Amino acid sequence: MDYSYEDARRTADFLIEKGVSQPQLGIVLGTGLSGLAKEITVECELDYGLIPGFPLSTVESHAGKLVFGTICGIKVIALQGRFHHYEGYSMKQITFPVRVMKHLGIKALLLSNAAGAINKKYKKGQLMIIDDHINLLPSNPLTGENDDRNGPRFPDMSRPYDPQMNNLFADAAIKEGVTVHKGVYAVVSGPNLETRAEYRFLGRIGADVVGMSTVPEVIVCNHMKLPCAAISVLTDECDPDDLHPVDISDILRVAGEAEKDLTRIFVAVIPKLSLN
Ligand code: HPA
Repeated sequence: MDYSYEDARRTADFLIEKGVSQPQLGIVLGTGLSGLAKEITVECELDYGLIPGFPLSTVESHAGKLVFGTICGIKVIALQGRFHHYEGYSMKQITFPVRVMKHLGIKALLLSNAAGAINKKYKKGQLMIIDDHINLLPSNPLTGENDDRNGPRFPDMSRPYDPQMNNLFADAAIKEGVTVHKGVYAVVSGPNLETRAEYRFLGRIGADVVGMSTVPEVIVCNHMKLPCAAISVLTDECDPDDLHPVDISDILRVAGEAEKDLTRIFVAVIPKLSLN
């Protein structure tokens, strides 16, 4: 499989046969953040292993399941668990599910992730609306021959995250009493966390937070002119002058605690999205 336009179409047709009919919104749930799926009135669920072309998530904290159903009457596909560069997948594999969801007809994509806080004003457990990003991954999902049916050779990235959706998230956060920042996400390949010198470097080049996901999917959304927005849950504080060791269990615990806030603002925003 080369993750072509036709491959994405075939997988979309497979999902339609399984009962995924006319989803309006896609949602990608990141590390430790799959609880939003509980808000879905489920019509069907499929393990990734059963879906042609979907890689299997190799990370235990990522469930690896597609859930189709409704939230507040909106038809959604939620991907519980995503694929990362550090798992050894190609960028085309990582972003294949987004191509498939576009074939299914989604009008917007919401993403969540866990990230480390570099900006000293940010505290763990808080959320950040991603306003812009810095791509430090060693490869790009758009390399190779461009298929013009997906989008242009040189997609514009002047507003990679939909400003209207970001405003809806900011408003929802105020209404729900949730602290939300707006800032820049730097993506690295991982899987190791950063050294003190790397956190210092990331802060100096303009990153507010750092993580290992989301940007490939967002590039593909921009390629296909699919509006997207993404929220980071800040799971650790990355102060190079006072850095404490963290491990994945700390990150998962903090993500789990912040999940309630994330879910509340997602549920507040979803009915307000314009999905035409
Ligand atoms: N660095 C990179 N990715 C992360 C971090 C971090 O500190 N925290 C959560 N994901």
